[in-house]
Amino acid sequence: MSLPEHAYRSIAPNLRICCTLTGMWQVSGGHGPIDPTKAVDAMIAYHDAGFTTWDLADHYGPAEDFIGAFRRRLAATRGQAALESTCAFTKWVPQPGPMTRPVVERAVDISLRRMDVSALDMLQFHWWDYQDQRYLDAFEALAALQQAGKLRHLGLTNFDTAHLAELVGRGLPIVTNQVQYSLIDRRPEVQMAAFCQTHQVGLLAYGTLCGGLLGDKYLGQPEPTRTELRTASLQKYKRMIDLWGGWALFQELLAVLRQLADRHQSSIATIALRAILDRPAVAGVIVGARLGVAEHRDATAAVFALALDERDHQDIDAVLARSNDLFQRIGDCGDEYRR
Ligand SMILES: NC(=O)c1ccc[n+]([C@@H]2O[C@H](COP(=O)([O-])OP(=O)(O)OC[C@H]3O[C@@H](n4cnc5c(N)ncnc54)[C@H](OP(=O)(O)O)[C@@H]3O)[C@@H](O)[C@H]2O)c1
Repeated sequence: MSLPEHAYRSIAPNLRICCTLTGMWQVSGGHGPIDPTKAVDAMIAYHDAGFTTWDLADHYGPAEDFIGAFRRRLAATRGQAALESTCAFTKWVPQPGPMTRPVVERAVDISLRRMDVSALDMLQFHWWDYQDQRYLDAFEALAALQQAGKLRHLGLTNFDTAHLAELVGRGLPIVTNQVQYSLIDRRPEVQMAAFCQTHQVGLLAYGTLCGGLLGDKYLGQPEPTRTELRTASLQKYKRMIDLWGGWALFQELLAVLRQLADRHQSSIATIALRAILDRPAVAGVIVGARLGVAEHRDATAAVFALALDERDHQDIDAVLARSNDLFQRIGDCGDEYRR
């Protein structure tokens, strides 16, 4: 399998991504055991299938080490040139504290060593508390490290529109903001997407499949109990569905998505991914993968052969119109991490 040319986008100079990024939170421990050898085998299979872009973080268990092992295996089996077509975006999620250049550089150096790279393709920065303005020091230090060649690009994750605007206003070079964005959580549509469009910041969407809940497997199923939701991801997004409108309305959404899937000979997950990939400012959707345990590469690749039409969007919107407004209930993107 290979992906068509339009599966890839240049989102910054010398930064070409696969628009369905493969997410690695699923190897961090909260989604069941992962065998490192099988995980790296799976990463090679993703790469060979055209899924060349990885999303991870410093705190996703062994994820950064897996990137290092994957890159070494890729170079050994496919040649050094194969490394040029792959990119891996890690995150730095520090506890608030002094954000001096040595502190920031030490964190970057750890990721460089673990991922076995001379420069990070992109580092995405998260901050827990805007009352503590040391995020400004941290980001200035990151920008200096970019100048020094340790990072190629800088991104953010879970920043709200006001603080993204603050950093953009200081002239800091921000390529992307990674936020929760799905048919359930459409908070980015309130303020974030318009700002990003104006200022050429791409959105990287996560939670687009609600940990797998937005899939055929859950159509017609009774509401799962907490113990039946066996991954951290499923538990996280079930709470989101509860706030959004509850299980009965969610089943109505799944039923409508199934009708669309029938019309397009597709799957609910594929429709849910395409619907978000089509939204303004979205540069890519991240699809979590339990590497070496489960894979959905064909259904994800099918996103690039699918075009939703006006009738499809109207059918989806008719259900969404009856849901609660998560922007009112939670706030802007990422506010759930800062309460
Ligand atoms: N920045 C942040 O704060 C943040 C937060 C959360 C996640 N993320 C990133 O986003 C990534 C995605 O994670 P997520 O938690 O949001 O999960 P998700 O992508 O919404 O869901 C992933 C799960 O969906 C199922 N799935 C995947 N493709 C499918 C398909 N085509 N058909 C049916 N089911 C499919 C799989 O379940 P099974 O494995 O059970 O088959 C998979 O484990 C993470 O790995 C991470 O990189 C970032």
